[in-house]
Amino acid sequence: MVKINENYLKLKSSYLFSEIAKRVAAFQCENPGREIIKMGIGDVTRALPGACIRAFHAAVDEMSADSTFRGYGPEQGYDFLREKIADRDFRSRGADISPDEIFVSDGAKSDTGNFQELFSNDVRIAIPDPVYPVYIDTNVMAGRAGDSRSGRYDGIAYLDCTESNGFVPDPPAEKLDLIYLCYPNNPTGATATKEKLAEWVEYARRNKSVILFDAAYEAFIRDGSIPHSIYEIDGARDVAVEFRSFSKTAGFTGTRCAYTVVPKSCNGYDSSGNPQSLHPLWFRRCSTKFNGVSYPVQRAAEAVFSEEGAVQTREIIDDYLGNAKIVRESFSSLGYKCTGGDNSPYIWIDTATDSWKFFDMLLAKAGVVCTPGEGFGNCGRGYIRISAFNTRKNVEKAMEKIKDLLKNGIK
Ligand code: MLT
Repeated sequence: MVKINENYLKLKSSYLFSEIAKRVAAFQCENPGREIIKMGIGDVTRALPGACIRAFHAAVDEMSADSTFRGYGPEQGYDFLREKIADRDFRSRGADISPDEIFVSDGAKSDTGNFQELFSNDVRIAIPDPVYPVYIDTNVMAGRAGDSRSGRYDGIAYLDCTESNGFVPDPPAEKLDLIYLCYPNNPTGATATKEKLAEWVEYARRNKSVILFDAAYEAFIRDGSIPHSIYEIDGARDVAVEFRSFSKTAGFTGTRCAYTVVPKSCNGYDSSGNPQSLHPLWFRRCSTKFNGVSYPVQRAAEAVFSEEGAVQTREIIDDYLGNAKIVRESFSSLGYKCTGGDNSPYIWIDTATDSWKFFDMLLAKAGVVCTPGEGFGNCGRGYIRISAFNTRKNVEKAMEKIKDLLKNGIK
């Protein structure tokens, strides 16, 4: 008899975005021909920037001749891409990160999900609430979360993110080992100041903790005072791992390219209390379980850093930020409290009612798909998240329908 990993039975029955897709498919089936505007999952709608497409094509052509063909690539990614990342994303911001501390991967989802494998099963984990569900689910799968009661797992320390703390948690008094943070935040769209991140870095240094910092949405920051990387904070490279992605930055959700920064000075500890650098552990993990991102995709990602690619990427993000502004203004004009949408593609809206009910109502009466806040955790109850990844025309149409529906309150 082959036994299963029973931790899987402790997971919610389906992944949030699969559950939403199921409900939308059922609605479409019952209402054929009804127009639906999807503002739920944060999936990009604009094409890859022209500079990326040209680099992509050229690299595919290289694969067509024996003399330029490439087989397995270097495990951590090609130097041409890692050097650009180190220079442009970090050193240009005064963050001391070298190319060999960068691991190119197929997505921040897999990296944020897999990184927990490096830690002992008895580490104390801190996870914000609301949160991108991957951080929790992968710890549940690993057997670190314990049992679930009223929507929360016993073995996880939840960091409540509410209106009263601006959706950015303070470091707690208790000692926690592995801390997940994401800024600009998914789902709330909130951002963290340098001062707040400095408090977390100081906490992690004092407690020998590690911060897993998800910066997948940093390209949406327009306020010059907000840090793009945790490594802009002194001392962070000794206690933080950072996850970045080309998905939302340059439209790579379907193409797949991301990277994780593991500074060589960032340590965990063995059972005798001796420091162990996480870098060789992650290298070992990746070289065993992953064979890298394809050469053409890495060439396409490199083009994001070209002069032309940078201009095109910024224009696309500005377009999404324009959508976010329209969403935020529309809901604010209806009297709803909104967070995010200025340095983030997500708008977090307090509906003052049950978030799944609100989801069902928007779908049934306006044909608009959002994400119910409750799907991101207990603190998301009463909220919905709207994603700005869509065409301007669809966003305007969706907001007109919503204004029409909600102008006299919820019926
Ligand atoms: C989201 O909608 O939260 C994101 O698209 C999920 C992801 O990036 O995996």
